[in-house]
Amino acid sequence: MKDNGRILEVRDLYKDFSGLEVLAGVSFQVAQGERHAVIGPNGAGKTTLFNVITGKYKPSGGSILFQGRDITGRPPHQLCRMKISRSFQITNAFQELTVFENVRSGVRCLHGLRYHFFRRVDRDVAVNRRTEELLHLVGLGSVADAPVSTLSYGQQRALEIALTLSTDPELILLDEPTAGMTREETAEAIQLIDRVTRGKTLIIIEHDMDVVFSLADRISVLHYGRILASDRPHVIRDDQRVKDAYLGEG
Ligand SMILES: Nc1ncnc2c1ncn2[C@@H]1O[C@H](COP(=O)(O)OP(=O)(O)O)[C@@H](O)[C@H]1O
Ligand SMILES: [Mg+2]
Repeated sequence: MKDNGRILEVRDLYKDFSGLEVLAGVSFQVAQGERHAVIGPNGAGKTTLFNVITGKYKPSGGSILFQGRDITGRPPHQLCRMKISRSFQITNAFQELTVFENVRSGVRCLHGLRYHFFRRVDRDVAVNRRTEELLHLVGLGSVADAPVSTLSYGQQRALEIALTLSTDPELILLDEPTAGMTREETAEAIQLIDRVTRGKTLIIIEHDMDVVFSLADRISVLHYGRILASDRPHVIRDDQRVKDAYLGEG
């Protein structure tokens, strides 16, 4: 089922928005258990790539294989069931609900499918237990009953990670999880991400090059809708085309 330990294979992916070609033949592969960073200038198509992989948009061409299965064009809820989960650049939680309620709704979605033959009361116990586990994992145990709107920025981002994990994914896609954070907050968030995604496969869009080079096993550089290079960090760092196109700029 797994193709040489590959969990994701993107083949010649195209996406255009009414004539604007944003993805122009993107191909790359991600191995099971890998931490894969996607970098590239603003507007390169990074978020669009995530949107196409996770089924928000259908590609105009190309294909996506997850664990060897063609998932091209499948809707998000099917991909969620297949253990693909993403976070969003913008906070995606229900502000008036509590932290606990938010994460529980994600967990319930999964358990509703998995435990539908259990008695309801047993299911509720399992859902609550898993919710508590997740909140402790991301360090939000002490604010479980607080409305989301009262959380600090860093706590909101931790909540997004808990929500991303609530469906028990194998493949996790994070879109700029440290955007808007200070250096200290970034360092903390990356430690958290590193810890909670261990044993899973991570694809992360990240603009902080220190983070990218310390976290990633492999890096793909997206430039004008194409992959300029996809390789191990030291190879990317020494790649003259990457330097010219991107790293050299800053
Ligand atoms: N839903 C959409 N409709 C029209 N254009 C879009 C849409 N989503 C993204 N784009 C365009 O695609 C290009 C790439 O955007 P994006 O994928 O967000 O880049 P990145 O995440 O690398 O900064 C931009 O020019 C953006 O305006
Ligand atoms: Mg983006």
